[in-house]
Order: sequence, then structure tokens, then C-alpha cells
Amino acid sequence: MTRIDWGKGTYESTAADLLPAARELVDAARIKPGEHVVDVGAGTGNVALVAADLGARVTAVEPAARLREVIQESAGARDLTVVDGTAAELPLADASADVILSNFAVIFAPDPRAAIAEFARVATSRVLLTSWLPGPMDKVVGVLAGAVREITGSGEAMEGQIDWHDPAVLAELFGQHGFELTATVKDLAMTAASPEDYWETRLANHPLGVATLPLLEQAGRLTDVRTRVIDAIGNWTTPSGQVSIPSQYLLATATR
Ligand SMILES: C[S@@+](CC[C@H](N)C(=O)[O-])C[C@H]1O[C@@H](n2cnc3c(N)ncnc32)[C@H](O)[C@@H]1O
Repeated sequence: MTRIDWGKGTYESTAADLLPAARELVDAARIKPGEHVVDVGAGTGNVALVAADLGARVTAVEPAARLREVIQESAGARDLTVVDGTAAELPLADASADVILSNFAVIFAPDPRAAIAEFARVATSRVLLTSWLPGPMDKVVGVLAGAVREITGSGEAMEGQIDWHDPAVLAELFGQHGFELTATVKDLAMTAASPEDYWETRLANHPLGVATLPLLEQAGRLTDVRTRVIDAIGNWTTPSGQVSIPSQYLLATATR
């Protein structure tokens, strides 16, 4: 798979959508002041900033250079260090963190088992992560993904990928490293001013959109796909024309 640069496009609008889940994740971690908390795939720092405000010593690990700058600019006087790295290669010593948190981020790791082993190497106490459950959003993204598959002929499930939203899978994989797993399902509606606004701000300018839409454009399919996606989003418009796509995610807590 092509490595996506999450610093391209405008990830910020999606980050704002995910902030309520970041707060839930930090809340569930029951962070104590002074604990070392690592936010893996920190994006613009949703989790890292909230955790630092609770008095944690935070390390934000983020592979995208532009997003690392965004976090650094927001950090202010907080005890927050921003570093380059990926879930499977954390630039941190063994047993050097109390807690690892990952809000919709480790789910993008190319080698999930390596990422979980790496989390187990670094975290002494708890690992918490969020992952989307299958739902209405798949219909929207499915239109896009289906068109890209038709053009590239690719799209087979990548070898070694796991169902991050399945508690049984996570219990098995984290269990191999001595963690016990609990999980809850949470709701998070994805909202926008209109279907067109959703397309523009959440899909076309999202880093994943920036990486894939040029393929559709080159194939002369972009206008058709945009129309079909906007139609699909239209299923979740309120009478006032606003979009509210009901979505659910798993919040998993691994403890040892
Ligand atoms: C959907 S965003 C979530 C960002 C942030 N956690 C939030 O709450 O907004 C996914 C993030 O995962 C990062 N990411 C992608 N692949 C990764 C990997 N292999 N290891 C760690 N982070 C990764 C991206 O750079 C991006 O910042």
C-alpha cells in the first residue's frame, strides 16, 4: 500500500469531528497527574493536549511532519514532547510509559501484530484505542473505494490486517502480551453543513481523499463519483439540510 502522508490536505476538520472520542478515550484511561502518556498517531494532538491538561507527561508520536508542527504550535507550556515515529516503531525505551492511547490511529498500522507487540514493549499499565464499527459511513466511503478499486484493480484485504473493532480479536492479540481487554461501544455522529460540505471538507481535502481523488480525476470518473457520494450522504440529511451520519466505534482498554 502507498504510504499516506496525513500532513497533506486538511486533516483539521476531521480532527475536530474526532475530539469527543479523544475526550472519551482520555477519560477511560483514568490518567493520574505525572503519568507518562503516549499518544500514538496523534494527528493534530486531540488526545495529547487533553491528557497534558490533566497533568500527564505526554509524548505525542506522529509520522506526518506537518501535523507534528501543528501539535507543537498548540502545545504551549504543556508538558508535551512531539516525536516522529509509527505504532510499530516507537522511539521510546522499554517500559517507559504508563499509558498508550491511540485515537483512530493504530488502526492504520500496516502490521497490526507488530504494533501491538511494540505497545506491549513500551506500556507498563494500559493501552486504550478506538476503532470504527462497520456502519453507514462504509456506504459513503464504499462508493469512493469501489471506484478506486475498479480503476487500479487493487483493493484486496492487506495481508496481516485485523478487525480492530472486534473485541475478541483484540483480547486474543493483547492477551498474548499479558493484557486483559475490556471494550465498550460508543456513538459519534459525523456532521457537516450539507452533503456538498461533507464532500469538500471531510472527503476531498482529507489526506486519504488527497491521496486517491487524483486517480479518479485521471480516469475521468471524479464528477460521477462525487455525485454518487453526495447522493449517499444525502440519506443522512436532517430537514434543515445538515448532515448527521450516525456512527459507532469501539473503545478498547487493555490492562496489565
Ligand atoms: C484518523 S487520524 C487520527 C489522529 C488523531 N489521533 C485524532 O484523534 O485526531 C490517523 C492518524 O494516524 C497516523 N498514522 C497513520 N499511520 C500510522 C502508523 N503506522 N503509526 C502511527 N500513526 C499512524 C496519521 O498520521 C494520523 O495522524
